[in-house]
Amino acid sequence: MDYRKKYLEFFASKGHAILPSASLIPENDPTTLFTGSGMQPMVPFLLGQKHALGTRLADAQKCFRSGDIEEVGDNRHTTFFEMLGNWSLGDYFKQEQISWMWEFLTSEIGLDPENLYFTCFRGNEELGIPRDTEAAGLWQKLFAEKSIDAQIVDFPERDGLQGGRIFYYSEKKNWWSRSGVPGNMPVGEPGGPDTEMFYDFGADRKLHENSDWAAEVCHVNCDCGRFVEIGNNVFMQYVKTEQGFEQLPQKNVDFGGGLERMAAAANNNPDVFTTDLFKQLRESIESLSGKTYGDRAEETFAFRVV
Ligand code: ALA
Repeated sequence: MDYRKKYLEFFASKGHAILPSASLIPENDPTTLFTGSGMQPMVPFLLGQKHALGTRLADAQKCFRSGDIEEVGDNRHTTFFEMLGNWSLGDYFKQEQISWMWEFLTSEIGLDPENLYFTCFRGNEELGIPRDTEAAGLWQKLFAEKSIDAQIVDFPERDGLQGGRIFYYSEKKNWWSRSGVPGNMPVGEPGGPDTEMFYDFGADRKLHENSDWAAEVCHVNCDCGRFVEIGNNVFMQYVKTEQGFEQLPQKNVDFGGGLERMAAAANNNPDVFTTDLFKQLRESIESLSGKTYGDRAEETFAFRVV
């Protein structure tokens, strides 16, 4: 299945203008060497500048994240990837975004809701930013429509899933800006709470990649390989000021989802390198090296790094 096409067609059907991927080298933006997320070319429009194509935009943006380079070699990290993105520039907000994402994941690409988990922002009184009960409640309602009783858990990581499907985390996990947590944001930078979407590849994945996880309790944000983040809905409604945070003039949605990871979830195979996107590269390395992808762990690691 062509998931990129499916995603863009889905958001076109919801009134979005479809943009081509911007250059990997950002234009008129000295803040980073490479485009690292779909929102990067959108910053002026998230801050309030009018976009010629309107208030609903979507694309598949080529991204490079050097920050992930040490992770490359596992089943899911790459430095170069395509981010499926959609934006509301002061148009729709949580209700539409969450129900469209649910529809896309469960009906369009056929993910089993039993394998879906979500995280939301727990709130921070000091910053004056409330707990995102709205996002958590919307996910819970969508699960209920599929007869799944999704518990919302305020998450102490050491206690594992506790029977939950929706978890509140602090700004360390459920806040997004280009500079990370609120404390690191420069004045003028937009950001906001987010709700992340995870796919469960099954408890037997836990030890597959790395036996160091044997003694750890599984939770969605642990890195054992069982749960993989497939997308992030950022409710970009704040801007950092000298005093703290203020509401932007418009409430935006900034969604980004990894094409490779969504395809892996739809194939129910946690190794992104087995998707069609990497077929040609896998086969070229196989013919040059005489080795077979997946035969031996060390060689598989090397294939992924190449
Ligand atoms: N901008 C958000 C991210 O990159 C969607 O995760």
